[in-house]
Amino acid sequence: MTPPILRTKAALRDAVLGWKRAGETIGVVPTMGALHAGHLSLVEAAKADCDRVIVTIFVNPKQFNNASDLENYPRTEEADAEKLAPFGVDAIYAPGPGEIYPEGFATAVTVTGLTDGLCGSHRPGHFDGVTTVCAKLFLQTLADRAYFGEKDYQQLQVVTRMARDLDLLTEVIGCPTVREPDGLALSSRNVLLPPETRAAAPALNRVMRQLAERLAEGESLGPVRFQAEAALREAGFSEVEYIELRSADGLETLEHPTRPARLLAAAWLGGVRLIDNIAVG
Ligand code: PAJ
Repeated sequence: MTPPILRTKAALRDAVLGWKRAGETIGVVPTMGALHAGHLSLVEAAKADCDRVIVTIFVNPKQFNNASDLENYPRTEEADAEKLAPFGVDAIYAPGPGEIYPEGFATAVTVTGLTDGLCGSHRPGHFDGVTTVCAKLFLQTLADRAYFGEKDYQQLQVVTRMARDLDLLTEVIGCPTVREPDGLALSSRNVLLPPETRAAAPALNRVMRQLAERLAEGESLGPVRFQAEAALREAGFSEVEYIELRSADGLETLEHPTRPARLLAAAWLGGVRLIDNIAVG
C-alpha cells in the first residue's frame, strides 16, 4: 500500500503528536523527490532504527540559486509513492511551497564557516536554503532522528552542525553513498544527463579514486589535481568546479591526508552538475 500523503503542517502535527504520546520514536528522511535507491537506503536505515518513518518530499525553492534548475528539477510524486510502498513508511509529507513559506516568511537559518567553500562558493544562498528548510522539517516532524546521505557530504556536515548549534532534538545520521555498478553516485539529476554523455559520467568517481590512491601514497594535491582535471575534460566534462581534499570532520583544507580526510569534487557534464566525494586513506 502506498503511504498516506500529508499536505499540511496541521495534518502532520496530528499524526506525529499521536505517535509521540504513544512513546514511539520518529525518523524523518528529507528529500526533494524523484526517489532512487540512494533515497531508499535512507528509508531502510530509518525503518531499522525508528518506530515511525516519515519521508518528506519538497522541492525547496530557497535552495536553488538558478530558476531554470528549479523548473527542470524532476517531479515524480506518484512514482515516488509507489517506490515507498514496500517499505512500510508511515507518512509522506509533501507540502506545497505556501505551506512551508507562507506570505511574509522572513527567517533564515545560516551556518557559517562550513558553508564557505566547496558547493557553498559555487551556489550562493544554497546552504541557507537547506538549513532553513531542514530546521523547519525537523521541528514540524518532531523527529528523533533524521537520515542524510554522505553523497552530499558538505550538506551532511552543515545540517549536523545546525542541529547541534540550535539544540534541536533531532539527531542527524549519515548513511553511505549508493552507486551504480559503474561507480556513478545515484542522483535525481542523473536522469537529466543526455544519453550520449551517460557513459562518461562514471569518470568522475574513477578519476577521484585514482587521485585518492595517489594522495594516500604521499603525493600532494596540487600537481595531481591538475592531472585529474585534465582527465575529466578528456572524458567529456566541460568544467571542473572543484576537486578538494578536506578533513572529514570540520572540512578544513588539507594538502595531504594527515587525518581522516575526504576528497570532494563537482564537475559539469552535458549541462548537468555532478558531485561526488570519497574517503581518503
Ligand atoms: P535530495 O537531493 O532529494 O536528497 C535527499 C537525501 O538523499 C539527501 O540526504 C542526500 O544526501 C541523499 N542521497 C542522494 N543521493 C544519494 C545516494 N546516491 N546515496 C545515498 N544517499 C543519497 O539533499 C536534498 O534532497 C535536499 O537538500 C534536502 C536535504 C531534502 C533539503 O531540501
